[in-house]
Amino acid sequence: MNSSEIRTKFLEFFRKRGHAVIPSAPLVPENDPTVLFNTAGMQPLVPYLLGKEHPAGKRLVDVQKCVRTGDIDDIGDNRHLSFFEMLGNWSLGDYFKKEAINWSYEFLTSKEEGLGLDPNRLYVTVFKGEEGIPRDTDAIAIWQDVFKKNGLSIDVAGEDEVMKPGVRIIPLGTKDNFWIAGTTGPCGGDTEIFYDTKPELGPVTGKFVDVVDSFRLIEIWNNVFMEFNKTAEGTYEKLAKPNVDTGMGLERTTAVINGKDHVFATDLFLPILNKISEFSTSDNDKAKRVVADHIRAAVFMIGDGVVPLNTDQGYVLRRLLRRAVRYADMLGMKHGSLFWIAETVIDKYSDFYTNLSTDRERIKQEIDKEEHKFRQTLKVGLKEFEKCATQDISAANAFSLFSSYGFPIDMTIELAKEKGIKVDVDGFKKEFEKHQELSRKGAEQKFKGGLADAGDPMIIRYHTATHLLHQALHDVLGEGVGQKGSNITTERLRFDFSYGSKMTDEQKKKVEDIINEKIAQKLPMNQVNLPREEAEKTGARHFFGEKYGDQISIYFVGNDLASAYSKEFCGGPHVKNTSELAGPEGKWKFKILKEEAVSQGVRRIKAVLE
Ligand code: ALA
Repeated sequence: MNSSEIRTKFLEFFRKRGHAVIPSAPLVPENDPTVLFNTAGMQPLVPYLLGKEHPAGKRLVDVQKCVRTGDIDDIGDNRHLSFFEMLGNWSLGDYFKKEAINWSYEFLTSKEEGLGLDPNRLYVTVFKGEEGIPRDTDAIAIWQDVFKKNGLSIDVAGEDEVMKPGVRIIPLGTKDNFWIAGTTGPCGGDTEIFYDTKPELGPVTGKFVDVVDSFRLIEIWNNVFMEFNKTAEGTYEKLAKPNVDTGMGLERTTAVINGKDHVFATDLFLPILNKISEFSTSDNDKAKRVVADHIRAAVFMIGDGVVPLNTDQGYVLRRLLRRAVRYADMLGMKHGSLFWIAETVIDKYSDFYTNLSTDRERIKQEIDKEEHKFRQTLKVGLKEFEKCATQDISAANAFSLFSSYGFPIDMTIELAKEKGIKVDVDGFKKEFEKHQELSRKGAEQKFKGGLADAGDPMIIRYHTATHLLHQALHDVLGEGVGQKGSNITTERLRFDFSYGSKMTDEQKKKVEDIINEKIAQKLPMNQVNLPREEAEKTGARHFFGEKYGDQISIYFVGNDLASAYSKEFCGGPHVKNTSELAGPEGKWKFKILKEEAVSQGVRRIKAVLE
């Protein structure tokens, strides 16, 4: 069954059951500044999930375009994609668990109306109850009823989450079976449906997580039973009427039901990969997949109004396109051939997404333009490479090429090889891992939920810029300023802080000037580890009431801790010198784009380096 049949069957199945078919919302959320792209089908529907009346009624069905770029470096393996389509059916305060579960089962197994999957190969997880939210005994009972009616086993796994012959229902905790987009909004326990890809191995046995990690069981559909709205204060308010939000990834489902190991072997990608092969002189499958994924995502983004820029959505698009150029080069594709790959993507998708065909020329042109622009930028980086390449390339130089000029290590290695010199790859990896590891710690402590790709040079710059901003706000507004939250993407920083009134234009200008001055002064960013008590005595900024370990890492801007301009408890990563905030060509400035209230007494700044 090909992907367009799956789309059609899904929409038709739910249309027959009283659901209005609604079109996909554009990739860029219209009224939700907290996310750059819709990352799930529910995002554009949030107001309705919170109780607003939807013009099309209480039962909806759709195929939503989504983008998730958090794991860009994983693209090319068998599961990760930056763009995907999510099939979803919705009850806005109408039907609930019983109908949702029964229809899910029916759609997956019905030969006439659905996908015709073998019911024996289906397994489900349910919410086991945790953190004060009760176990979903209703979902368990409903699944048992459905399975029993169809002559299937109905055993429920215990707390050990171990599967034995007969076990078909696995209760899991909030980490796995409680769904929320980000940190606030409509949410609830969910039930996830898994498909056994290797029934020939006999009964599924072992700890559930291991079975999933081995790819034997693959999740194909999630039914979320939204009963709460999680507020910014972290409390769960019961919704007046509960909703159903479901999500089934089209690419993965197409792969799984056709017995394919990965999404790139489905009809959604084959024509694109074939076109790439036509232009390639290499058989590097991973590179082909990266190009296919990135150009596909780029086509949809441009179709929805995104253009390559250094900020927000435009920066995500730019990164994808530039990465595609690099992989195209690895494949030996000629300059300018991405244009033709875009053409194939549009051909493949314009039946369902008609805007792509009406916008065909503009989309292709944007991709072509960016490819050429990137080749220009590369020249600047190449000059820098030439400077280092008079001898073997040290770890520090390789890392600086990566962090300041966007040179990935494989490109540095390739160029070095051409010159017959070596790169200290192990040293680079150590440096890189150190940053990754630190960034993970940093992510847990400081950017809860917000940090998409912490090894990214842009994110590292924004992280340092956030420290400068924090101190500059103290300088300008006084010591009453306290950090309330921080969220960094590759496109911008966002900083929430306590302060009672709107900042004046002069105050904003002063803050910008201070930061730009610190950037111009080319100050080193340093780090020390100190025992907690000593660390507290330094006066370095930290969250009061936050739990810290016994050894504290402090980052400070300046030559020594005593005279540092800014010092904070922090896991990093950071730039080595504030001058890096001015970008590879030293021209960027720190700019406050917006200063606004987020709640009583809390202000939010969005700022960029550009
Ligand atoms: N909102 C749920 C998900 O994205 C269905 O998995």
